[in-house]
Amino acid sequence: MAAPPLARLGMSTSRFLRDHWQKRPLLVRGALPSFRDPLSAEELAGLACEDGVESRIVTRTRTRYDVRYGPHEEQTFLSLPEARWTLLVQEVNRHVPGAADLLDAFSFIPNVRVDDVMVSYAAPGGGVGPHIDSYDVFLVQGQGRRRWRYGATAAGDVALVEGAPLRILRRFSPDHDEILEAGDMLYLPPGVAHEGTADTACLTYSVGFRAPNLAEMYMDLSDALCDLPAGAALYRDPQLAPQHNPGLVSPAARARVRSMIRGLALSDAEIDRWYARFATRLKPGHEIPRPARAPSWRAILRRLERGEVVVRSEEGRFAYLDEPRIYLYVGGEELPCHRAALPLIELVCSARRLGAADLLRASRAVAARELLVRLFTLGALSFVR
Ligand code: SIN
Ligand code: CO
Repeated sequence: MAAPPLARLGMSTSRFLRDHWQKRPLLVRGALPSFRDPLSAEELAGLACEDGVESRIVTRTRTRYDVRYGPHEEQTFLSLPEARWTLLVQEVNRHVPGAADLLDAFSFIPNVRVDDVMVSYAAPGGGVGPHIDSYDVFLVQGQGRRRWRYGATAAGDVALVEGAPLRILRRFSPDHDEILEAGDMLYLPPGVAHEGTADTACLTYSVGFRAPNLAEMYMDLSDALCDLPAGAALYRDPQLAPQHNPGLVSPAARARVRSMIRGLALSDAEIDRWYARFATRLKPGHEIPRPARAPSWRAILRRLERGEVVVRSEEGRFAYLDEPRIYLYVGGEELPCHRAALPLIELVCSARRLGAADLLRASRAVAARELLVRLFTLGALSFVR
């Protein structure tokens, strides 16, 4: 089956994943024909003035780039030139529901891979220069036109311009040169050199997918291991033998430590559960705002029966494990579940906005109702206001 952004090409999701995902770029003209910008350039600038919103303004001249990090002052926008600057705002999906909805068009990629929707506004000639990203990205063109030059495969030459405030490639020889218009989309896998330059003033939506690296995983796993009961993890040496120098790390001590480290053998289920928590956890400094009062099932039911729509929090990813036992993970929190709640779990993991009829159908079992109440109590679900 073709996912919406691929339908124009008649390309099945399987073919995209087989031939392009993490391998080769794909340009889809008219990928999202009914796409309308969920915010204006002015609203994006307003967002970039708020505390807690990550943003950059990049200005360029023929010889150099300058970067200013947000939050910005309104005055800054009034003093920008007519051309050759861009504003980039991260995680717009957390602040603008319409930007979050864009992520649902990419639900053929697992939730744990989702990073964010970054939105950029560029004045004519604006851009961040030729560079490489380590993430997969779908670049959806909003209003205006942007020229994309990009490689056919991952770049071999990754040397950077020294001393630049951005990661700019020293040499860039693109294979493709295309102008994208509203609703067009370009998929770029990690490592492909690219440069987007505004042809006219334009808005571009970068739907980004992250992948954890081993160092991050080891660090998180070692934190999780610190939660072992202290006694279980204590180094013990009741047979300590005299040694000729107190500085020596003796063969016996080395053997003890090696066996402690190797004794950390984790079962598959323990690794899976750690990974699901890790992969769904909140970014540092983020939290899921909880409602002042935990709602009851009756209160939720009343609103669902009125047909009210429910929305998922954008703070944490939603994922689940379905064997040997069922766990739902939201924002790093593990919720052990009964199998009868599986239809509800599948529903909440599949879309950001949930219709009342679907939720009522998936919540017939008591276990599902309990889970639904828990999700509202955590702030993971809420009614659209
Ligand atoms: C942009 O939207 O200007 C930059 C996106 C990118 O190249 O990663
Ligand atoms: Co990029």
